[in-house]
Amino acid sequence: MNKKNIRDLADTELAHKRVVVRVDFNVPLDGDRVTDDTRVRAALPTIEYLASRGARVVLLSHLGRPKGGPDPKYTLAPVAKTLAELQKRPVAFCPVATGPDAVARTKALADGEILLMENTRFYPGEEKNDEALSREFAALGDLYVNDAFGSAHRAHSSTAGITQFLRPSVAGFLMEKELDYLGKAIAEPQRPFVAILGGSKVSGKIDVIEALLPKVDGLLIGGAMACTFFKAMGFETGTSLVEADRVELASDLVERAGYRLTLPHDATVSTRIDGTAPTAVVKRDAIPADQAMFDIGPETMASYARAIASAKTVLWNGPMGVFETKPFDAGTLAVARAMAEATKRGATTIVGGGDSAAAVAEAGLETAMSHVSTGGGASLEFLEGKVLPGVAALDDR
Ligand code: 3PG
Repeated sequence: MNKKNIRDLADTELAHKRVVVRVDFNVPLDGDRVTDDTRVRAALPTIEYLASRGARVVLLSHLGRPKGGPDPKYTLAPVAKTLAELQKRPVAFCPVATGPDAVARTKALADGEILLMENTRFYPGEEKNDEALSREFAALGDLYVNDAFGSAHRAHSSTAGITQFLRPSVAGFLMEKELDYLGKAIAEPQRPFVAILGGSKVSGKIDVIEALLPKVDGLLIGGAMACTFFKAMGFETGTSLVEADRVELASDLVERAGYRLTLPHDATVSTRIDGTAPTAVVKRDAIPADQAMFDIGPETMASYARAIASAKTVLWNGPMGVFETKPFDAGTLAVARAMAEATKRGATTIVGGGDSAAAVAEAGLETAMSHVSTGGGASLEFLEGKVLPGVAALDDR
């Protein structure tokens, strides 16, 4: 990575300094309980590194999508508790993220202390990358670290604008690790390089398919989006989700990709998505008119597992079926297990964030992968070859 990171800063640049660290603590909550602390754990190495060097750590994050003002449903207060438990040291919480009180709280910090500010999206300027708000966030510290890979595709005040007023601006360890894994997979993959793409819509994955096709040795498609391809191939797709306006594009992709693109050979179908109706396995060209594909079939699972087994680099983004509902989770689990096996044999296995990361966690296989990204939208945009504004804004080496 050609961006500076915290290791490039001398200890003297950190000691006694207020370091604003943008983290992605956009975590799922049940009331005031954090139900998945993956993103909080992922930020610990950076926070520990800074605190242990006598920095005064000021954390900024968004949570959820509040509508331009404070909303108690989206307070970060519960996350401060989770962070304190994980770090086994106190974490203070500041109920505002701008203004004289907020600045005073940061100035009252002792070396090594940690302060989490309230949700950056309680300020309407945040998502507009508003200059005045960026200045206010910048006033909370003496230098800036961005460790929020999951938010790096957003050009917001706390991820981009702030860097105009706070220097140095460098990457944290999580940001570096994410860019390293995803970047290497794209730029210099160990071959064979196999990508697996799933999810419900082709429209959301077109750019990534286009970007990956010239780079991969094989691209395996799963999820409901396979049905748009089936339609393009002239098959009956029953009541499956098909994006009518993308059929032509799917047809064009099939033609251009040639042997590198693999579509499911069979499908698990049913009349109901909730798993309460009988299911059947059918060939891909035999989906009954009154049923929909809700998962890839067993033949496809086996052949995708073989492709994964033969690869040295595997990149996966998007579930193979309706993985939240049994029995339609089988295809997604088969991919997760095949990747875990591939990791054991020395392949580099990378799981994009979002649904596929959730499925891997559900299967208890997070540690069985080389890397599970903490960014859903961010990893997708990175793989599409887009510039991530949160990264672009950081200091070059
Ligand atoms: C995510 O969860 O993907 C990031 O935290 C970004 O959240 P957003 O999509 O609400 O900007």
